[in-house]
Amino acid sequence: MAAKLLSTGFRHSTLPENYVRPLSDRPRLSQVSQLEDFPLIDISSTDRSRLVQKIHQACSRFGFFQVINHGVSKATIDEMVSVAHEFFGMPMDEKMKLYSDDPTKTPRLSTSFNVKEEEVNNWRDYLRLHCYPIDKYVHEWPSNPPSFKEVVSKYSREIRELGFKIEELISESLGLEKDYMKKVLGEQGQHMAVNYYPPCPEPELTYGLPAHTDPNALTILLQDATVCGLQILIDGHWFAVNPRPDAFVINIGDQLQALSNGVYKSVWHRAVTNTENPRLSIASFMCPDNGAVISPAKPLWEAKEEEAKPIYRDYTYAEYYKKFWSRNLDQEHCLENFLND
Ligand code: OGA
Ligand code: NI
Repeated sequence: MAAKLLSTGFRHSTLPENYVRPLSDRPRLSQVSQLEDFPLIDISSTDRSRLVQKIHQACSRFGFFQVINHGVSKATIDEMVSVAHEFFGMPMDEKMKLYSDDPTKTPRLSTSFNVKEEEVNNWRDYLRLHCYPIDKYVHEWPSNPPSFKEVVSKYSREIRELGFKIEELISESLGLEKDYMKKVLGEQGQHMAVNYYPPCPEPELTYGLPAHTDPNALTILLQDATVCGLQILIDGHWFAVNPRPDAFVINIGDQLQALSNGVYKSVWHRAVTNTENPRLSIASFMCPDNGAVISPAKPLWEAKEEEAKPIYRDYTYAEYYKKFWSRNLDQEHCLENFLND
């Protein structure tokens, strides 16, 4: 059965068949714990070495952290959230103009994850945009709501600055030159996924997004300020990352796992649903240039003991991205296809 947009305003009383996961693959929400020591990092700190040390701990232990005092203004964030709500609240015929289930197409409004590849659908609608260079893409963005282009442009610019700041910190935290990532990743692309998870009649039977790792370099996630849903897998156990309204959630993507030679992990995460409230999240993905060659940073393995070697083979981001979208989300870690033998 083909999946269709869920953001219709209609409240389902039972979960349609095509969203029901097999018994062995359900969220088991009662077994999810709260993460007490989830890192919260003030990136305006002037104690650089302490800051870099905190980033190192967070990236090697969790692959995830939250940042505060991040430089993205509250007004920018509030406007972004409200335009996103307005977007998903538009009438169906307006939204269907942007609908596509072809993952190579942007912008696209779609549903689930990769409708053509998956057997069971996910309780999510999403709008996917390219955001850099803005001048190249802004004309193809939705023209409704009328403020969409202006608001999303401003948000994307501020997020990009934050992304570069964090990439510098991550480079330093690996003992690399501050601009190492920037150089290696080339002219970075920036994508956005505006995720909308409507209230779900049976959250125990399905996912908003099943477990996955992000294929890009770095993800900057704005979570709904009040509605929980993001969970991460640590030591084989699922933990909820509860929202903090003033923070962004940052996570290491597959490309930084490769560049760090596995020192930093691109951690499995998922989004679950709830019966009460719609949940919005806005993910910004910093992506290597398509032609960028990704390889484990030499200083991280070259000077080590004799048998040390790069875990992953060299590849271009274009090659990786194609592989990622040819799969179903909850298969093996996509990086496993790029291991050195
Ligand atoms: C994503 C993602 C999590 C969320 O878009 O890649 O992991 O909470 N989103 O919506
Ligand atoms: Ni993700």
